[in-house]
Amino acid sequence: MPIKSLHIQHIRNVADVRLDPSPRINIIHGDNGSGKTSLLEGIHFLGLTRSFRTTQIRHLVQSGQDACLVFAQVQALPGAPALPLGVERRLDGEVRVRHAGQSIELSELAQLLPLQVIDSDTFLLLEGSPSIRRQFIDWGVFHSDRSFIQLWRGFRRVLKQRNSLLKCGKIDPRLRRIWDQEFVAYAEQMTQLREQYIELLKPDFEATLGRLLGGVAVELRFSPGWDRKTPLDQLLEEGLARDLKQGFTGAGPQRADLRVRADGHNAAERLSRGQKKLVVSALKLAQGALFYRLNNRPCIYLIDDLPSELDEQHCRLFCQFLEETSNQCFITCVDPAALDGIWLPQTDVSRFRVDAGKLSHAD
Ligand SMILES: Nc1ncnc2c1ncn2[C@@H]1O[C@H](COP(=O)(O)OP(=O)(O)O)[C@@H](O)[C@H]1O
Ligand SMILES: [Mg+2]
Repeated sequence: MPIKSLHIQHIRNVADVRLDPSPRINIIHGDNGSGKTSLLEGIHFLGLTRSFRTTQIRHLVQSGQDACLVFAQVQALPGAPALPLGVERRLDGEVRVRHAGQSIELSELAQLLPLQVIDSDTFLLLEGSPSIRRQFIDWGVFHSDRSFIQLWRGFRRVLKQRNSLLKCGKIDPRLRRIWDQEFVAYAEQMTQLREQYIELLKPDFEATLGRLLGGVAVELRFSPGWDRKTPLDQLLEEGLARDLKQGFTGAGPQRADLRVRADGHNAAERLSRGQKKLVVSALKLAQGALFYRLNNRPCIYLIDDLPSELDEQHCRLFCQFLEETSNQCFITCVDPAALDGIWLPQTDVSRFRVDAGKLSHAD
């Protein structure tokens, strides 16, 4: 039961909303422009201090206000007491994150609230750039291995340093070799964790996809970002002239990708739009299922307008998966009837209606 109570202030048209969500399924319905996505952004803001729709805080903060705030009572582990969590961000750049009366770092916050977003952009996972699929992989690695965040930060620092040396055009070979050694050490460790994660994810993905989309053989293949037939230090050495010309590093985990193949072909080219959505759905659901197995606690799914993304039959199947793992879900829709009659009688479902940024219980 991750979020027990929620208080959102000054997020887009949501001036001041309080809700006590269900630990399981929350359905938020309302007309277009009523504030459904804004409420989901509020929850995302609580977990990551930013929106999933914009990178600019000024768009998220309600017009005329100078800050947005979200408070909650959050239960990090089943059986543990709920503790207060508050996130505030001001237009002047100040960010405050407090948990149980103490300031905490962003990585601790992200660990506390494992969020999965599913909106129309998510369905572009297969067609989009590799960076989107790296984010997908790294969400899973971050939540399954505590050492990953340090490796990731260390690697980013070394990559930035190496690239800025490349941009200068002339590098002292001794200095470069030192940076390359560090680069390779981080790269190997990060890649091992990413690879292990994808191996763990595969059975969950296959089981989920088998139920959502039968008859198509879809295969996940992790691509580390360089050709592993050659040691990475050798590739860096051999690619130096090209790297210097480009001004950035060509081989390494910064180029990693998740290749998705359907019937032996690139799934983004091969599958229909609807089939691709089901593959992405299976990937996102599998991540939640694996997270649960590894951490013994559920994720929070923020799902924006599911009925407009999936047809009725697959929308139902998708919801059944959500119901089977004990995730806390916030699902928005325009017509609440689209999500009626899906849930088991014992499932705790709360329904809310949003009107011009104001929330009411719809039960
Ligand atoms: N920074 C802002 N301040 C005030 N209102 C905003 C801001 N940004 C967007 N809005 C308004 O918030 C409303 C709710 O948007 P949204 O949550 O996307 O609606 P829904 O998802 O229900 O269709 C929209 O009418 C939009 O014009
Ligand atoms: Mg919306």
